[in-house]
Amino acid sequence: MTDPAPARPPVHVAAIMDGNGRWARRRNLPRTEGHTEGEENLARLVRVAVTRDIGWLTVFGFSTENWVRPRTEVRHILGLHRKLFGRVAELNDLNVRIQWMGRPFDSPDARTPKYVQRAIRKAIADTAQNTGMVLTVAFDYGSHAEMVWAARHAARSEGAVTPASLGAHLYLPELPPVDVLVRTSGELRISNFMLWQSAGAEIYFTDCAWPDFDAGELDAALALVRP
Ligand code: FPP
Repeated sequence: MTDPAPARPPVHVAAIMDGNGRWARRRNLPRTEGHTEGEENLARLVRVAVTRDIGWLTVFGFSTENWVRPRTEVRHILGLHRKLFGRVAELNDLNVRIQWMGRPFDSPDARTPKYVQRAIRKAIADTAQNTGMVLTVAFDYGSHAEMVWAARHAARSEGAVTPASLGAHLYLPELPPVDVLVRTSGELRISNFMLWQSAGAEIYFTDCAWPDFDAGELDAALALVRP
């Protein structure tokens, strides 16, 4: 009798979803249409990711630096987050648990509006029972803010700050290290995303714009850790 193939350990994929604006411009569409398509593509990609032994998918939805964008664009992206966190039925069908990371709602510099907070809290509660892939959306997130937060809390509770104590005070300390970090749309930058968690990650840079990032692209990224 042959032994069954050993199960592949689940991996952590993180994505900087860039290029929505350029995707729209190439089609003579407003930038907001690019973001709308970017959110739709994330929903499509989640359906693919659950078939690929991905344990954790973490995406950069909105950064601490993105608040300076034009008001109408920011409002549109916030609405898309409410839409994404409202996809509870889909997530439950896929056994996906959603979570969020960013500046804690009650911290002095946090900027997540109340209606997005409500959507986030509800989606987290309504998918908490799922045991499959964990989808983490980084919103009002920046690595520098996170590391300052973690260092302050580590110093308060343990005194000497060490890699272990700092890691234990990140926004989501249970998130495992990132295995593959994806950045779409031809930019070769990390842009303050998961700097601590990506210390040992492979990096997949692609020219593909986020709305076009499909199963083939995901498989190319995964090939970096599963040759
Ligand atoms: C970058 O495109 C994208 C962002 C501002 C963050 C990602 C946002 C989305 C994918 C839309 C909604 C997503 C969620 C998770 C609800 P860009 O505007 O920088 O594109 P450009 O560089 O081509 O202008």
